[in-house]
Amino acid sequence: MPFPRLTRLAVVELRTAASVGQVVVEEDQLQHRVAELGAEISRDYEGRDLFMMGVLKGAVFFLADLMREVHVPCELDFMAVSSYGSLTDSSGVVRILKDLDSSIEGKDVLIVEDIVDSGLTLNYLLRNLRGRGPRSLEVCALLVKPARRKIELPIRYVGFEIPNRFVVGYGLDLDQRHRNLPYVAAIDGDAGDGQLHAA
Ligand code: IMP
Ligand code: MG
Repeated sequence: MPFPRLTRLAVVELRTAASVGQVVVEEDQLQHRVAELGAEISRDYEGRDLFMMGVLKGAVFFLADLMREVHVPCELDFMAVSSYGSLTDSSGVVRILKDLDSSIEGKDVLIVEDIVDSGLTLNYLLRNLRGRGPRSLEVCALLVKPARRKIELPIRYVGFEIPNRFVVGYGLDLDQRHRNLPYVAAIDGDAGDGQLHAA
């Protein structure tokens, strides 16, 4: 039996109460900057092997594009973390949902993040990974929101600094939606005042 039309519409309406608004970073700007970052990383790690570590799920699109622009030998691995807190604010209390498959001891590790907001999640990751004895540990974040930062962190590679807006697309989600947009756009509506999920 087909899903009752009215019910489905009602659900869709609720979910789109906060809608995708203004584009913050265009698709070609993303691709151009990713190529620049890849070139910079390739220069910095010349003659070394790189262990690229993506933070699931948001960093997947960025990481896949970035890695193809990096021309030193690379390993790829992922971690998944969840951060406790209110819907759009992480608390810094982080739980590891999926850990790395292999050891990073003695390796040159690059953490690849979609966005650094308060910095609390990244701060936890940095402390955790430093304890595993990598040879070096750096961060590449596609987006940073300087106005929201609660903690100063060494982010070596930054794609774009963006205003204090909740954004989706190119991997970033609002309640698991909109990751597949090829650009980054701000959310209009409730998300801006901290009502919607940001994990
Ligand atoms: P932080 O601990 O406050 O830095 O939050 C980091 C995580 O929150 C990111 O890795 C994202 O998963 C999520 N996040 C923060 N801001 C946004 C946003 O504007 N859109 C989508 N996810 C976000
Ligand atoms: Mg994330």
